[in-house]
Amino acid sequence: MSKFDVVGFGALNVDKLFKVNGIAVAEGESFATDFAETCGGSAANTVVGLARLGCRVGFVGKVADDREGRTLVEEFCKEGVDTSCITVAKQGRSGTVMGFVDEEGDRALYIDPGVNDAIDFNEKNRKYASQTEFLHLTSFVGEKSFRTQEKIVETLPENVKVSFDPGALYARKGFAALRTIVKKTYVALPNAGELELLTGKVEYRKGAEALLDEGVQVVAVKLGAKGCYIASREEKGPIESVKVKVVDTTGAGDAFNAGFLYGLIRKKSLCECGRIGNFVASRCIMKMGARTALPTFSDLKRSGLE
Ligand SMILES: Nc1ncnc2c1ncn2[C@@H]1O[C@H](COP(=O)(O)OP(=O)(O)OP(=O)(O)O)[C@@H](O)[C@H]1O
Ligand SMILES: [Mg+2]
Repeated sequence: MSKFDVVGFGALNVDKLFKVNGIAVAEGESFATDFAETCGGSAANTVVGLARLGCRVGFVGKVADDREGRTLVEEFCKEGVDTSCITVAKQGRSGTVMGFVDEEGDRALYIDPGVNDAIDFNEKNRKYASQTEFLHLTSFVGEKSFRTQEKIVETLPENVKVSFDPGALYARKGFAALRTIVKKTYVALPNAGELELLTGKVEYRKGAEALLDEGVQVVAVKLGAKGCYIASREEKGPIESVKVKVVDTTGAGDAFNAGFLYGLIRKKSLCECGRIGNFVASRCIMKMGARTALPTFSDLKRSGLE
């Protein structure tokens, strides 16, 4: 048996969200009316979701020796995520995302990738990534850490399955640039827009087919309020979302990934995986923040999905 169910490999960010009276234009001025700071990063949110469900999870990442870096690592420890493959850089800044939300709820985001973009391929992360059933990859802004993901994927033993959520950042690179990763991907978890960017197919069912043709075994397309569409060679179809009162959709996709991967780890049918993904995402969006409302194993049990 592998040491971990899932190892995440993506950016670690502290999200600094300012409520503002208006989003400033160039040379303009606005003021903040509220502020909240939370830990984020797509793969990071997903491994926290999996930890809540009782899975064994770890992370490959990098933070700096600053307050943000310590907060990111401490929160992982609290959630039960193994942090032994998170490097602390002596110089530079930890990743941050500054968000400005106006009174209409429109958002402007500024990403400062910091040391996230300086992850080297080395013996330590190669070995760590080989001790898991699933290696879950999400995007980096810069090229260096992306190349490291490519190298890790190329050196993985056969028994490690790659799970890939490209996000808009990687989807925009297009298929040719992502070929190395897609060719080794077992499960792809894009939303409909990202799938179109990635495959050039407007219709998400066709996009999913295109990924299956490239050798991806399972595709789960996230469709927002509509739920998801799942596809493999054997099973295909839409799965309706769970109707809830939406408070904040931040991290919905990451929460979905946690639920879907949980289903795969527990050897559920794809249809059940999709239902669990929708359920975990629905809980996430009922409260502010990407991690606040992520359900525990008991919550899942109570829902009857476990
Ligand atoms: N309004 C909603 N009602 C119920 N469920 C929702 C709603 N919006 C999103 N979800 C759930 O969240 C999942 C992921 O949301 P979405 O399709 O927006 O992913 P995404 O675009 O990758 O999100 P993110 O911006 O977090 O990366 C959906 O598949 C669905 O299960
Ligand atoms: Mg997403």
